[in-house]
Amino acid sequence: MKKAVGRVLSSSGEYHWDRVEITLYKNERVYRGEYLYVEVDGKRVFLQVEINPIKRPTSSYDEKLTRDGLVNRDEEREVWKASCWQVGYEEDGTIQPYLFPIPPLCEVYRPEPRELENFLTPLEPSITVGRIYPTDAPLKLGLKTLVRQGLLDCGGEGTGKTTLLLTILMALMEQTPRDQPIHVMVIDWDGEFNVPELVDAAKKKGGYLRLEAPMRFKKELKITPKEFYERVRRYLGLAPNSREARKLNAVLMRMRDQAIDWNRETYLNLISQIDDPAVESKLREQVDIIFPPQSEEGWDIRELVQENALVHLDFSNAENWDEIILTSRDALDICYHEARTNPRFGVIVVIDEVHNFAPQNIYEAPASKEAYESMVPVMKLLATTGPRNKIPLFVATQRLSEVEKVVSTQMGQNIFAFRVEDIDLERLRGIMGDIASAVRMLPRGHALFKGHAVKVRTPIISVIDKLAEPASVHKDLLSAWRRG
Ligand SMILES: Nc1ncnc2c1ncn2[C@@H]1O[C@H](COP(=O)(O)OP(=O)(O)OP(=O)(O)O)[C@@H](O)[C@H]1O
Ligand SMILES: [Mg+2]
Repeated sequence: MKKAVGRVLSSSGEYHWDRVEITLYKNERVYRGEYLYVEVDGKRVFLQVEINPIKRPTSSYDEKLTRDGLVNRDEEREVWKASCWQVGYEEDGTIQPYLFPIPPLCEVYRPEPRELENFLTPLEPSITVGRIYPTDAPLKLGLKTLVRQGLLDCGGEGTGKTTLLLTILMALMEQTPRDQPIHVMVIDWDGEFNVPELVDAAKKKGGYLRLEAPMRFKKELKITPKEFYERVRRYLGLAPNSREARKLNAVLMRMRDQAIDWNRETYLNLISQIDDPAVESKLREQVDIIFPPQSEEGWDIRELVQENALVHLDFSNAENWDEIILTSRDALDICYHEARTNPRFGVIVVIDEVHNFAPQNIYEAPASKEAYESMVPVMKLLATTGPRNKIPLFVATQRLSEVEKVVSTQMGQNIFAFRVEDIDLERLRGIMGDIASAVRMLPRGHALFKGHAVKVRTPIISVIDKLAEPASVHKDLLSAWRRG
């Protein structure tokens, strides 16, 4: 039988539809973020606890008595309250607001875990990534929504970000229908994803391929002159009205709409036609940024993605950050182009510590300015138009405030927020709303989820299922010494 935890009762005496104040029965407790419900007009209207204070009127002499050690706690004088926001009621699989005031003295109930699960879980096929705190009800995310919008996973050091990415990867491999192919590319800068469970799961799902740095990708692409121009501009960070951009454009205009090869040779050939030696030599000097030496040969990343459930780009052996950034840029750019032009191609891109790939301030990130000037536009393009073009980003970061702004705000449709540093809280608030402050209290493995992949737009406190351990866990300094 359902049991009430309290009743709607407002201390001001006014009753609204969106804000609901509850007085709890004696010995009942509710926690911040918890979902409760009332029954009005035959509808089950859900509420979410925002704050849960105890009220006890303070008398003028209380302070003095307390100072002198003359008072004891008298629980009879205490009233436990909960101030809630309305979440809404369910109708045909969507959540609707109840637009009339929630009347005084309605009884307030706590849903059974099963009822909570039904209320939050979308009707579309979903994957389970954790539990709805503090129940054992699963937190399920709509798969279709997730791959159409992408995901941002942020939190301070050691809070569980990589574990969450792993859980999501495992869920994609193991929980999706058998006849549903999955294609993921993990850009792994420090080898965190060398996880045996993940490798096994990917093999079962359709194939696992790991490439180790140094790696090169074939770039034999035919693109329009206009696209050629845009790419060069993007890679070199040229403004449209710069001399270089205008001269290059003039040469490309002569090609009309004829498709041309996107490679080093074509580039060098084109710039040799520029009638300004200074511009020509400047563009020639930068050829390595666009086409790293020998980049003509190498892997066909499109093929690898299509032939495998998981392509793992492991950069733990990379010489330096420029290599990581420029190689990742190639892989992303090739996949983006393929996803746009080939109706059967698409890939989920997973990047951990994404502030190293799309930094807000390129001077404070590990690769060179030149490398970022060519990478950041690609990341922005992916963040803004990737999901709609079948190439969504699933990214994690420890430093939300250091992620390029377009990237972080575009990724805000599905967010997991673990505990973050105060400096990152501001950015999180901008994306998530005031509720973000609640994450300051979360222990490891606990995150606030807010997004379109569940039925409600209110946040959900969740405990992430740990399905595998990130590879770095046993690579800390003290363990290394112990082994030595
Ligand atoms: N949901 C969870 N349940 C249990 N343990 C967890 C959970 N999430 C993380 N942990 C543990 O916490 C530690 C740190 O996890 P993880 O490496 O995922 O955090 P991170 O935020 O990626 O850290 P870093 O900032 O070092 O990248 C690991 O030992 C991991 O096993
Ligand atoms: Mg990590």
